[in-house]
Amino acid sequence: MRVVAAAVCGLLVAVGMVAVAAPAQASGPLNDHAAAHGKFIGNAVDNYELADSAYPPVIASEFGQLTPANAMKWDATEPNRGQFNYARGDEIVNLARQNGQTVRGHTLVWHNQTPSWVQNLSAAELRTALVNHITNVVGHYEGQLYAWDVVNEALNEDGTLRNSFWLQKLGEGYIADAFRAARAADPDVKLYINDYNTDGTGAKSDGMYRLVQSLQAAGVPIDGVGFQSHLAVQYGFPTNMRQNLQRFADLGLDVAITELDVRMQLPTSSAKLTTQANYFRDVTLACLAVARCVGVTMWGYTDKYSWVPDTFPGEGAALVADANFQRKPAYTAMHDALAGGSTPDTTPPTTPGTPVASGVTATTVVLSWSAATDSGGSGLAGYTVSSASGAVLGQSSTTSVTLTGLTPSTQYSVSVRARDGAGNLSTASGSVSFTTLAGSSSSCRVAYSAENWGGGGGFTAGVTITNTGAAAVNGWTLGFSFPSSQRVTTPGWSATWSQNGAAVTATNLSWNGTIAPNASVSIGFNGTYSGTNTAPSVFTVNGGTCG
Ligand code: XIL
Repeated sequence: MRVVAAAVCGLLVAVGMVAVAAPAQASGPLNDHAAAHGKFIGNAVDNYELADSAYPPVIASEFGQLTPANAMKWDATEPNRGQFNYARGDEIVNLARQNGQTVRGHTLVWHNQTPSWVQNLSAAELRTALVNHITNVVGHYEGQLYAWDVVNEALNEDGTLRNSFWLQKLGEGYIADAFRAARAADPDVKLYINDYNTDGTGAKSDGMYRLVQSLQAAGVPIDGVGFQSHLAVQYGFPTNMRQNLQRFADLGLDVAITELDVRMQLPTSSAKLTTQANYFRDVTLACLAVARCVGVTMWGYTDKYSWVPDTFPGEGAALVADANFQRKPAYTAMHDALAGGSTPDTTPPTTPGTPVASGVTATTVVLSWSAATDSGGSGLAGYTVSSASGAVLGQSSTTSVTLTGLTPSTQYSVSVRARDGAGNLSTASGSVSFTTLAGSSSSCRVAYSAENWGGGGGFTAGVTITNTGAAAVNGWTLGFSFPSSQRVTTPGWSATWSQNGAAVTATNLSWNGTIAPNASVSIGFNGTYSGTNTAPSVFTVNGGTCG
């Protein structure tokens, strides 16, 4: 047998001279391939999942690091004041020890999954409880963990500090206090700040950058930044992810992908699964390209156990194996990226032509431009249109876009950048200026109300459009712009809903297109949000701003 194997091996080497890559290691586990790059692939595990006998063997073989999905959160470790419970956390730590894996502690200070006794404390007592909690929990695990997510999700989408009970009662100093208490309790564990929607460049990521710099300037012991990377195929790949990781690394910090998943609207399709696979590949390549990126942790392995369906109604299939533990294209893509089948694409596309504006109305404009090209190997993925201030006004996969939800009587100066499949962004084109028309403002009124679902993340909105003019409206399109990161979950009801960037339009169905004077139509949708679910402030009907 040995001789035969050697002969086959020799043949492979010979073939390898002309073929591209030797397939010898093709079936190796993810973490083995990552380890060859000095990095790890990790997984978030919830205790109850371990009862499924199919799962622990996969956890043991594919991963080099574990994160407890819930077991180390405040509601698990200190459900009542001064009463600590480490049973579930210890179970994950013991499993990791048996498997030879490192553990990332998650998480000490967060606005979610924190018991009400904490939230009800006075400011002075809250500060004492914060330090006491960290001292005990970090102390219990001293020497056993690789890293702690000390502070989780402290930022708003615009990069300012989240107005949580922590900020309200303790001011921004709660973040520094938490890191200092953690360092005092374990001098060696890596201390991270962790957040979502900071994976690419943008306002939130800039806010994280400023926050980390100010912590460093104040001598706060921070070692790393965690990028959750909860992605969705329908929202696009984060802009310039590799460059974004690199700028944090350049501050002298470790960076880590801490909670990777890529959800999609169900049902799945082969196109969505392919996009998902590309995202898993490109996140992996971004980490591989940044020396201080220590590893990629996914928020679960099998779609059987994922937080997504419970949190984002209608979405799912976010992980690399399906509910029957069968590997999906995402697994293969990640595996092949780690095994060296592909090299990172770091070449941005060329600069697209200066856009030409036409068909300006009070709230919309049509822009078109000449195409960019991409030679980096991940192909041109689309274009992003931004205002002079950098706000993204629209995205397009073609060389034109209709911007909607603009403010009447306003001058805009916009430019366009091309994006490739790895998230590299071209330089901005020349800019074009146009001024939106004055909107008529008297003939409609819009009432908007949103109700958040318990648990966060989802909401239901009802919108009532009233015709306050003297003439009937025959056919209508409602327009508004979300102020934060809300998304309409189509289809919605009683209108055809669509969303482009922040801009939302709803067009009448055949049965409710006519609105008599003083009459109303009521429409609605389910949506998702993160951070604060602020209602839109300006509504238009057929381009005119409503009073
Ligand atoms: C999720 C868990 O996976 C769920 O089981 C739980 O019900 C809610 O929290 N960002 C985080 C994680 O930092 O702690 C969250 O985990 C997912 C989003």
